[in-house]
Amino acid sequence: MSEFKTLDDLDFSGRRVLLRADLNVPLNSGGIADNARIRHAAISILELLDGGASVVLTSHLGRPKGKAMPEFSLKPIVLALAAELKGAKLSFVDGWDGTRAEDAAGKLRPGEVLLLENLRFEPGEEANDEKFAARLASLADIYVDDAFSCAHRAHASIDGVARKLPAAAGRLMQKELEALGAALEHPEHPLAAIVGGNKISTKLGLLEHLMAKVDHLLIGGAMAHTFLLAGGLDIGKSLAEPDMVDTANRILKEAAEAECNVLLPTDVMVADRLANGAEGALAPVAAIPPDKMALDIGPETIARRSEIVATCRTVIWNGPMGAFEFKPFDTGTNRLADAVAKATEAGTLTSIAGGGDTMAALVQAGAEKRFSYVSLAGGAFLEWLEGRDLPGIEALKENGK
Ligand code: 3PG
Repeated sequence: MSEFKTLDDLDFSGRRVLLRADLNVPLNSGGIADNARIRHAAISILELLDGGASVVLTSHLGRPKGKAMPEFSLKPIVLALAAELKGAKLSFVDGWDGTRAEDAAGKLRPGEVLLLENLRFEPGEEANDEKFAARLASLADIYVDDAFSCAHRAHASIDGVARKLPAAAGRLMQKELEALGAALEHPEHPLAAIVGGNKISTKLGLLEHLMAKVDHLLIGGAMAHTFLLAGGLDIGKSLAEPDMVDTANRILKEAAEAECNVLLPTDVMVADRLANGAEGALAPVAAIPPDKMALDIGPETIARRSEIVATCRTVIWNGPMGAFEFKPFDTGTNRLADAVAKATEAGTLTSIAGGGDTMAALVQAGAEKRFSYVSLAGGAFLEWLEGRDLPGIEALKENGK
């Protein structure tokens, strides 16, 4: 963390802080479907208020593409956020028109919080427009970025503004970076990556980056079928990407050169349709019936993977091992998650997970609280696993120089 500042490095007393959080929470007809991001944002907010600051809180919600759209208003967040703020005064400005944001920010007193409307209602946000970044900067004395999950977006509230004010990483950002650093930058070996999901094509960069770093690469989900196809196996009606067979072969060759042990499934659970309660049957990968589709890894594969996990000191997990949304095809993901969680609880393993479906799969497996760290980030976690520089992190580094 020495590359940029954290909340420990700046004096916030009597200062106004622009805090970029990620309040992009899932909403449904009943309101907020999961308030994890709100709870995590509150940690830095409360610390700043305790330190004598006032907080101008900003976030995006959804993808309104530069237009004010009521369904993407941050207004529904207000009550849930207030519940986390231990009685601190919270106000909300419901638009970017005129100088209402500036006026409300100017009236803030230490210990108070102002939530601004969805940043993406303003076209300048996603365009990383200089003027909009300057407007954001004018609202505060110090900028704190606590949105690791948005660090892959070079937007005004993430990149532009970090170049205009003294800047620091918030506690959630700091925790994410420390956990991710422990997993890939200075990991304890043996190190395994468990990678699942449907498509090699969306995880190509990730596979190529990981194979150079990890000792074992455990591949599951439908992407494993493309590798089986590349090995000349008949995969029946299983989901795969036939046009990625050459790529799969190249990945296997490069992994062998990098001395990375790639594990493909040796047995799978097959069914004739993808549906809850569809009857599953066990098949070795060399004998997948032509009229069936593989929907999960089988018991032999689970056992072998659990053995590998037991020998490892670090595990990184991205993507489910099977069609976990449909029972009983969640079994492979659940059992392997349990093996990782048990080794973590026994103190022999550091386990980091994140990205897309992974959180949902681990919650379903009852394992997310038993891992060392589960990232709240989706796309940012994936880009980080690909070894890419994230604009939000780079801007903080530049500012910390
Ligand atoms: C996320 O949910 O991953 C972040 O909030 C980023 O959202 P975006 O993909 O719309 O930029």
